Amino acid sequence: VPNVIQLEGFHPLKHALRFGADVLDVMTSDPERLAQLVAELAPDLAPLHARTVAEAELAPHARATGVMALARRPDFDLAVALADPAPVILLEDPRRLGNLGACVRVAAAAGAAALLTTGASDPWHPDAVRGAAGLHYALPVARVDELPHSGRPLVAVDPGGEPGPVPPGAVLAFGSERHGLSDALLAAADQRLRIPMRPGVSSLNLATAVAAVLYASCGVGNAPPSISSMR
Ligand SMILES: C[S@@+](CC[C@H](N)C(=O)[O-])C[C@H]1O[C@@H](n2cnc3c(N)ncnc32)[C@H](O)[C@@H]1O
Repeated sequence: VPNVIQLEGFHPLKHALRFGADVLDVMTSDPERLAQLVAELAPDLAPLHARTVAEAELAPHARATGVMALARRPDFDLAVALADPAPVILLEDPRRLGNLGACVRVAAAAGAAALLTTGASDPWHPDAVRGAAGLHYALPVARVDELPHSGRPLVAVDPGGEPGPVPPGAVLAFGSERHGLSDALLAAADQRLRIPMRPGVSSLNLATAVAAVLYASCGVGNAPPSISSMR
């Protein structure tokens, strides 16, 4: 079903529930273990009701914790996403779904306004949702056909750029794992920003680069408020 998302494992379900997902079905092959996980890692979600199923009914990646859920994919409205003044992450044609998920995870943690992707990969693919630990529900995440017209500065985050400050409220564009940013995006950018690296190192991993730039733009000690006792 296109608008129903598979959440494989406990952490994706935990984050989906915390960030307001419309969870349609929760399944477990081990109700006692699920109750223990809730008590240890998410007492804020107790009691968590789940249907008991045979382990074979769970997706392979869900079997380690014996929990899986189905949730509705939220509607996406670009205008609403761009109304938040925080930085927007734009991933140009990301290829590795686990890496894409790691970008969603850090974008959620650092309080980005939205994470947008171009290219063929579906940012809501179960492998990306697993890589993000379900944090897709914490901010708008969507694939777009073209660069959004937002009036914000467009920063090409690229090893060929220059180090410098990150302008507030920018669209921060990151390239694909193998090829980096396209010539078209580099030409459209207002600024090319390099993350300094030791000589001999050619580039950082995509999600690592997103993390470095986002936290630099938040300012140390100025990160978004933590959800105190939640893990
Ligand atoms: C694995 S890198 C791509 C490497 C690609 N061969 C290149 O030269 O751009 C994936 C993306 O992470 C970002 N990135 C990685 N290291 C960076 C650095 N030191 N400075 C700025 N951006 C970086 C860029 O957006 C890059 O397109």
